[in-house]
Amino acid sequence: MGFKFNIKLLSPKLLIKIYVVCVFCFCYLLNSHGAQVAAFKDHRLPPKVSQQPYRTAYHFQPPKNWMNDPNGPMSYKGVYHFFYQYNPYGPLWGNISWGHAISYDLINWVHVDIALSPNKPYDINGCFSGSTTILPNGEPAILYTGVDTNGHQATNLAFPRNVSDPLLNVWVKSPRNPILSPPDGVDPEMYRDPSTGWLGPDGEWRFVIGSQVDNQGSAILYKSKDFSTWVRSSSPLHFSNKTKMWECPDFYPVVVDGKKGLDASAQGKNIKHVLKASFNNSDYYVLGNYDPKTDQYDTDVDFLDSKASFRGWSGLQTIPRSIWLSKSGDQLVQWPVKELEKLRTQKVHFENKELKGGSMIEISGITASQADVEIAFSLSNLEEAEQLSAEVVDPQILCRQKNASTSGKFGPFGLLVLASKDLNEHTAVFFRVFKTADSFRVLMCADQSRSSVRPKVDKSIYGAFLALDPRNEKISLRTLIDHSIVESFGGGGLVCITARVYPEMAVEENAHLYAFNNGSQSLSISSLSGWSMKKAQVVSIRKRRKPIK
Ligand SMILES: *[C@@H]1O[C@H](CO)[C@@H](O)[C@H](O)[C@H]1NC(C)=O
Ligand SMILES: *[C@@H]1O[C@H](CO)[C@@H](O)[C@H](O)[C@H]1NC(C)=O
Ligand SMILES: *[C@@H]1O[C@H](CO)[C@@H](O)[C@H](O)[C@H]1NC(C)=O
Ligand SMILES: *[C@@H]1O[C@H](CO)[C@@H](O)[C@H](O)[C@H]1NC(C)=O
Ligand SMILES: *[C@@H]1O[C@H](CO)[C@@H](O)[C@H](O)[C@H]1NC(C)=O
Ligand SMILES: *[C@@H]1O[C@H](CO)[C@@H](O)[C@H](O)[C@H]1NC(C)=O
Repeated sequence: MGFKFNIKLLSPKLLIKIYVVCVFCFCYLLNSHGAQVAAFKDHRLPPKVSQQPYRTAYHFQPPKNWMNDPNGPMSYKGVYHFFYQYNPYGPLWGNISWGHAISYDLINWVHVDIALSPNKPYDINGCFSGSTTILPNGEPAILYTGVDTNGHQATNLAFPRNVSDPLLNVWVKSPRNPILSPPDGVDPEMYRDPSTGWLGPDGEWRFVIGSQVDNQGSAILYKSKDFSTWVRSSSPLHFSNKTKMWECPDFYPVVVDGKKGLDASAQGKNIKHVLKASFNNSDYYVLGNYDPKTDQYDTDVDFLDSKASFRGWSGLQTIPRSIWLSKSGDQLVQWPVKELEKLRTQKVHFENKELKGGSMIEISGITASQADVEIAFSLSNLEEAEQLSAEVVDPQILCRQKNASTSGKFGPFGLLVLASKDLNEHTAVFFRVFKTADSFRVLMCADQSRSSVRPKVDKSIYGAFLALDPRNEKISLRTLIDHSIVESFGGGGLVCITARVYPEMAVEENAHLYAFNNGSQSLSISSLSGWSMKKAQVVSIRKRRKPIK
């Protein structure tokens, strides 16, 4: 199976904006002790809990300081490498560098030296997002965005100093940098995040870069014979007049039938291509057919009509996910890499338990603040389901209108996570089933509105429709709970919603976990398995940093 770190976080520019409006969530979100203390300055610290109740135990975090976008994940000589946007000097956004960590299993990590620091005129204002590509001689190359002394963005190249070193601990910037600057007509502040390269049948490399051209979000396509001298293709790989600036574009093949991962340059029948881009503070993807001879990319639907946007992303890195095409061929499936299961310890399990309307059961015996839970529901008497009015088709709106405290017939039912004993705090991840003219629709929501009694933390409600037929299939949910992050996978990974939450009471041993049904119809938990999760091992062999001059 292929793997991708799929969370897009925030762009350099966006971040500045968000940081201003959202100091609280981001400090909670992203940082270690220092930032929390800063953010909590005017707040009460929760009594009798560890100093860092929101620090995660098995999700990737740097040892300290600010982190945002993931960059250039790759496997090299049997070692996984992961880079990320990092401020080595403080818990706030700034001094953007490429942090670097390695792993043998994608779960336990070793922090190695900073790979790229802003120390050249062409990147002095930051080494921003980019990618890695393994070249035909087996050597990896980094493409990254540098912001120069004028605040202009350009693309740069870097290589490992010693390719025999599997840790790739030292990276050297190309003397030819910057290798690409914004072409005429492209705003030099809207030209960033080069994707991983792929080879066409003509032996030439391609990559795309995120931009806005003629007021439309675009993935500008470049071609090169040597990965160093690049020529802009006459047309972009894709663009959409319904969107503005695209960031962090990614373009990769998936097999039509199966879960096998593919090399970025794979071609041939039985392959679809995924184009992912970030805009409007969300990640979106489309599926389409790509002809590598002509570089024509025909998408199955328009970006915004795509059933499948990733919404509700935030802060720290999610667990790396395997990605493949769904059986129906029109959606991606995302699932935490199986290596995560090595962290599972104490287990609870039961089957075929009735969950009456208006009832809940506590799932006890595991650590509710650090857990992995899989639950499946089966429903009967579906003809009793509420009718879905034809007008409301936006699942986000529907989840807000019918939040976790709004009783229906089939639903809300699901999990209450990071819940306080009195339920004053809880994050609800739940489903509702509706009847339509000729079928059924399953809605999945993550409701953070009661996740914390603290003011000023994110209390959004996110949602998506789950493409499954409740007459034939169980409705399943897997939720990864790690102190301040709740990652939920509905329908085996057809829908994924990630929430960052900052409870005041429901922390550590005061956190509880429940299965609940707040609809009027009874249903059955066909199976539930829950595990306490061990802490991932994270060590640092990073050398002392010299201050930036
Ligand atoms: C950037 O680094 C310098 C030290 O090299 C430090 O003085 C400054 O505060 C840092 N900026 C941020 C935003 O962390
Ligand atoms: C390159 O890395 C290899 C493997 O770690 C090491 O044996 C060798 O000494 C390194 N070469 C240099 C010049 O550092
Ligand atoms: C946007 O693009 C579509 C085709 O992709 C076209 O049909 C439509 O007219 C365009 N709309 C505007 C406002 O340009
Ligand atoms: C972008 O987000 C804004 C605010 O959240 C929303 O009003 C707008 O409809 C979104 N645009 C698109 C194209 O989705
Ligand atoms: C369940 O519904 C009742 C009545 O509408 C409401 O008071 C309660 O808060 C709901 N439970 C949850 C977990 O939202
Ligand atoms: C939840 O829905 C109910 C009923 O529509 C509404 O009164 C309440 O304000 C909603 N809560 C939130 C946080 O949106």
